[in-house]
Amino acid sequence: MDNFKQMCPLSQIPYHEIKLLNKLYEGNRSIVYKSSYKNTNYITKLYFMKDDLYESMLYQLIIAKAVNQCKNVIHTYGVTISEKDNIVGIMMEDLNGEDLYDYLQTNIFWKQTNHENNDYAVYNSVENTYYKYIMKYEDKIHIIKQMIEAIHELHSLNIIHNDIKLQNFIIYKDKENIPRVKCIDLECCYFIDHNKPTIYSKHVLGTDGYMNLSSSRGLISKKTDIYSLGVSMVEVMNGDIWGGEEESYEDTRKTILYFLKKIHIMDENIGKIIKRCISTDEKKIPMIQTVLKNIL
Ligand SMILES: Nc1ncnc2c1ncn2[C@@H]1O[C@H](COP(=O)(O)OP(=O)(O)OP(=O)(O)O)[C@@H](O)[C@H]1O
Ligand SMILES: [Mg+2]
Repeated sequence: MDNFKQMCPLSQIPYHEIKLLNKLYEGNRSIVYKSSYKNTNYITKLYFMKDDLYESMLYQLIIAKAVNQCKNVIHTYGVTISEKDNIVGIMMEDLNGEDLYDYLQTNIFWKQTNHENNDYAVYNSVENTYYKYIMKYEDKIHIIKQMIEAIHELHSLNIIHNDIKLQNFIIYKDKENIPRVKCIDLECCYFIDHNKPTIYSKHVLGTDGYMNLSSSRGLISKKTDIYSLGVSMVEVMNGDIWGGEEESYEDTRKTILYFLKKIHIMDENIGKIIKRCISTDEKKIPMIQTVLKNIL
């Protein structure tokens, strides 16, 4: 712990001075709280540490410091440590937002419909009705562009996020009341070297459904993020794609391709670029600059 404190690249805030308010999320390794310190709200992610976690925590904090200059990536202010309880908390800006997955589920984007064949209709088994996804096209593109910007910023710093999905983006309103998107959760990030664009990771960290085959076998590169971005874009365009029955890689591919077809019918250009992002042939997956150019 002493070593960790010495090496910590961000400022350290006394644990007893932080008020933990409501719990936002409880995961396997961490709990996310809304919190306050000196009359400002923060999001604090608490980790229950074991000896073997300090090194990866330091790595995450170095990444967090590096991305503090990014516009579309969450900013981290500091770290709070409770030695007694073996807790390390990462204190981030509170954007007063919610993650993109929850956001797309909100009622305002769904309307009951009788037509099961509607392009974006989804069946609700509890109510035995179909719902139509009604987010405006411009709003979808507004969200997608910022997701791309976030990855563009990370890749420019030679950082691979390695767990791109809707739950790892926060949507919030800025001072002018315009919806903004920032990428969160730097836990799986890697720095990458120009000379070695693909690295091998023994522990596969990403999320099933969002990983292409080589990433799920531990081969991580910028293309790992582009594939996951492609899947996430399919979700933003369609509202909801996962039926909960996708257990294997093949099943998730079927679902993704089914919804990609719907996008193609509505907007051929977006359909084309997403198709390249989620290609099974890695050589065909474009770099983020190309994705950006094709969506702008
Ligand atoms: N700044 C924030 N504002 C609003 N909600 C947040 C914020 N940060 C995190 N959350 C919520 O907490 C969830 C989990 O946070 P995060 O992605 O950082 O943890 P995690 O590493 O995915 O957790 P685990 O892997 O242990 O399940 C997010 O998906 C989001 O719903
Ligand atoms: Mg997450």
